[in-house]
Amino acid sequence: MKKKTTERGFRLAVAGKGGVGKTTLIALLAELFTRSGYRVLAADEDPQLNLALSLGVPLEEAEKIVPLSQNKSYVEEKTGAQPGSAWGGLLRLNPDVSDVVHRFALQLKPNLYLLTMGSVDQAATGCLCPENSLLKAVMRFIVLKPGEVILVDTQAGPEHFGRGVLKGFSLLLVVTEPSSTALQVAKKSITLGLELDIPNLKLVVNKVRDKEDQNRVKAFMEGSGLDIPATYFLPYSHDLLVLEPAVGSILSKGGKFTNAVQKLFSDIKMLIPEKPL
Ligand SMILES: Nc1ncnc2c1ncn2[C@@H]1O[C@H](COP(=O)(O)OP(=O)(O)OP(=O)(O)O)[C@@H](O)[C@H]1O
Ligand SMILES: [Mg+2]
Repeated sequence: MKKKTTERGFRLAVAGKGGVGKTTLIALLAELFTRSGYRVLAADEDPQLNLALSLGVPLEEAEKIVPLSQNKSYVEEKTGAQPGSAWGGLLRLNPDVSDVVHRFALQLKPNLYLLTMGSVDQAATGCLCPENSLLKAVMRFIVLKPGEVILVDTQAGPEHFGRGVLKGFSLLLVVTEPSSTALQVAKKSITLGLELDIPNLKLVVNKVRDKEDQNRVKAFMEGSGLDIPATYFLPYSHDLLVLEPAVGSILSKGGKFTNAVQKLFSDIKMLIPEKPL
């Protein structure tokens, strides 16, 4: 079920239950896209700075990062309202965010930028508060050029940012473990992706230990009544646990986990109409 991607640039997000490997996967894909010559913006919605650490930013540097949602002056400059204030008639819903990467992203490599967005209070999800409005604008309206990709790491659960943000995305990677609780969340995330008409969905089953795990996932998906997306199985990897938080070097080690991530990456690349310059 592949449809052509028509959005500007290529926007990828992950969704899934807590701890299934979303941040790990975004960090590895960011590394692979960068190595392939793409210009990558890795954007983090996680309040714990995990993506920065996974991309190799030292802890003392990561702790200095002020998430965009907490940057009071920028939120106010762009939305016309202070963070934390309730929605009033004056809030600009689609602020011009073309300067956000230039002003706030951390350049990690010549072609790799990290934008830490921070989270919006769960209680505020769906509200029209200034922070939410700004984060949505950043995700949806950053203009990407050919050869640029934005990879968004999200908090656990399928409803991050509310529905507005994922709408313009090119690909949703639904990440899960073989456990039934993680699969239930994956099912919700796939349903959301289908409802939002995201043109490409992929199911990534991580931390798979054996054939039995694979069969359990297949049986669950077949019984879910969903149109099952292309499915990738990533094995459980002890090497990752040894390496973390900075996981990038696993890509040079080879092995089953790395090969499976490489296969996923090469299939993702086939969805991108524009190649790097
Ligand atoms: N294939 C794997 N094999 C073994 N451990 C893994 C694998 N993938 C990820 N992990 C480990 O699982 C833990 C959770 O991974 P990660 O932080 O990427 O998950 P997450 O989905 O981003 O979690 P959260 O929802 O809390 O943000 C980490 O310790 C990571 O090293
Ligand atoms: Mg994470």
